[in-house]
Amino acid sequence: MKSMLRLVLLLAPAVVLTGCGKGEVSFADDIDPVFQKHCVSCHSEAGEGATASAYLMTDYNNVMKGTAHGRVVVPGSRMSSSLYLVVAGKTAPEIRMPPHNDESFAEGRGVMLSAATIELIGLWIDQGAKNN
Ligand code: HEC
Repeated sequence: MKSMLRLVLLLAPAVVLTGCGKGEVSFADDIDPVFQKHCVSCHSEAGEGATASAYLMTDYNNVMKGTAHGRVVVPGSRMSSSLYLVVAGKTAPEIRMPPHNDESFAEGRGVMLSAATIELIGLWIDQGAKNN
């Protein structure tokens, strides 16, 4: 009984550290792979996203630099970050990313990120959008 109690006490700090899910989101491990897989085909030199919005997503600096109209990631606030809003489907259908609207579905290329991935991007922004 006593050793059981000790085990519980030992485990408690670990639970607090990891919270009730993920700890800190990593750009290199969690976020960049998503961007490379789902975004960079269009958001790199000569890609249609880069042509239309001047938004390059090839590396962290470009992701943070934003479009010709300004930044799309506001560290600390997903709801102020248009990058989050476009992936979470909280904008007009035409600018949801990756494009998932009637037109892109008709072209057979409509996709939306999974809810878990969208949440990960939101968390990364809320945690300061670090280059970690
Ligand atoms: C099939 C090509 C394609 C893919 C894949 C794609 N985009 Fe885009 N993206 C575009 C185009 C085209 C625009 C310009 C839309 C417009 O303004 O009409 C754009 C614009 C944007 C913008 C600027 C929106 C604004 O504020 O005007 C953001 C942010 C963005 N994309 C993020 C992403 C993210 C994040 C991904 C991956 C999850 C992604 N895109 C994947 C084509 C793409």
